[in-house]
Amino acid sequence: MTHTRARVALHPDFRVGPVDRRLFGSFVEHLGRAVYTGIYEPGHTTADEHGFRRDVADLARELGVTMLRYPGGNFVSNYRWEDGVGPVADRKPFLDLAWRTVEPNLVGTDEFLQWAEREGFEPMMAVNLGTRGVEAAAALVEYCNGEAGTRWADLRIANGRAEPYGVRLWCLGNEMDGPWQIGHKDAHEYGRLAAEAGKAMKLVDPSISLVVCGSSSMQMDTFGEWEQTVLTYTYDLVDHISMHAYYEELDGDRASFLASGTAMDRFIDRVAASADAVGARRRSDKTITISFDEWNVWYLESRFPGETNLPVQRDAPRIIEDVYSALDAVVVGDLLATLLNHADRVPVAALAQLVNVIAPIMTEPGGEAWRQPTFHPFATTARLARGEALDVRVDSPTTTTTRHGDVPLLTAAATHDPETGALALFLTNRSAEAVEVDVEHLGLGVELAEGWRMVADHEAAVEGPAHARRVVDACWSAVDLAADVATGARATTVTLAPESWTALAGTARRA
Ligand code: AHR
Repeated sequence: MTHTRARVALHPDFRVGPVDRRLFGSFVEHLGRAVYTGIYEPGHTTADEHGFRRDVADLARELGVTMLRYPGGNFVSNYRWEDGVGPVADRKPFLDLAWRTVEPNLVGTDEFLQWAEREGFEPMMAVNLGTRGVEAAAALVEYCNGEAGTRWADLRIANGRAEPYGVRLWCLGNEMDGPWQIGHKDAHEYGRLAAEAGKAMKLVDPSISLVVCGSSSMQMDTFGEWEQTVLTYTYDLVDHISMHAYYEELDGDRASFLASGTAMDRFIDRVAASADAVGARRRSDKTITISFDEWNVWYLESRFPGETNLPVQRDAPRIIEDVYSALDAVVVGDLLATLLNHADRVPVAALAQLVNVIAPIMTEPGGEAWRQPTFHPFATTARLARGEALDVRVDSPTTTTTRHGDVPLLTAAATHDPETGALALFLTNRSAEAVEVDVEHLGLGVELAEGWRMVADHEAAVEGPAHARRVVDACWSAVDLAADVATGARATTVTLAPESWTALAGTARRA
């Protein structure tokens, strides 16, 4: 049988940069069932003494998540954080306008931060720059990070938490360029507010890092100009600019969907160029890095009716609970490899979201928790990608897609840990045919120890744990290293199934 052939070359001295563990972040928003009956469900058989589901926390750790963004998302832009702290009996429900849902305020800043701390997830907090501003943002930093002796820090202590939480990463609002955002602003209004809020927040705690809002997607009319304007106000103050992107298969255009990683790649390059243009004008030696704090497959256009069409609901309604296929999982794997290939510019990222809402983990209220197909490439990459991302060279045939023009059929990312010798290689075959890949490992003796692959299926998604298990059983498997991979002194040859994502890992030592 003839195969399409491709070539990958890697060398331990050719590196992109260190893999920041925060690249494997995720997101918990007060949206649908992410919090209530997601991470938190008192009375559930697995609930801990604080009401958090043990089964979900265990799956989140198995997923390899390192960091969690909270509490939104669109939600944060109309959230009064003060309503979510203090004795639960005194807290009042409020109508969240972002998702038209009654928020009971049973979980707030303290409950989330203490849960994240117990489970070992670094928190990334967002402040409300939609309906609120400088004062509330600075007060929240003080509540979280302040030492005893000032109003908000003392309130935290009175609420039972003596030690500051030491939250390092802070988002200056969320998607403020989006007309759907409560308190939406133009770039000048937002840039000025972000600069003032960020200034006050850093005066409370100079050790924090700030993320300024970039565009909600590359499709926004203001894309590019937005980045340049907001950074003109905030360049010296902030550390990162945010990026958000969701991908879906539209109009049955499978080839374009499979090439989502190329769209993400170009988006990152364009945001980096926009940020660098501002830096160049200022003759600044500082580099603004990217916090890709919302990314995933989301059937946003094809399945979501839009926020304004949601009825007002209460009691943790089911909102955007996308059910994923193996094809979606292949794309998720490729998107993560794209992030690895930008490790020098993207130290922080968050798969949106963690549980129930466009998520790798699903639950039934009072019932079981399970892994969607997208869980597997994420968990495998988070486990295997260690050390430095390598500057992998790929020589691949291309195809022309409707949405993204010419794209490579094979993509690759690799990591190598010089300390331990651990090597990981991530390959996506976007083609409808098998591809035989020669991986030339220049100057390296490679010994592979494990391999995993997800092969896209054509099954339409149906709900529930049984479906997820069926897809995973049919599409996710260990690579038979003896039969499917040939490793020589200078090259490893592997045949990739059509429309598949593969991870290979082992050790690589200088030959
Ligand atoms: O992740 C779901 C939503 O997508 C977030 O609330 C918002 O920031 C984005 O539009």
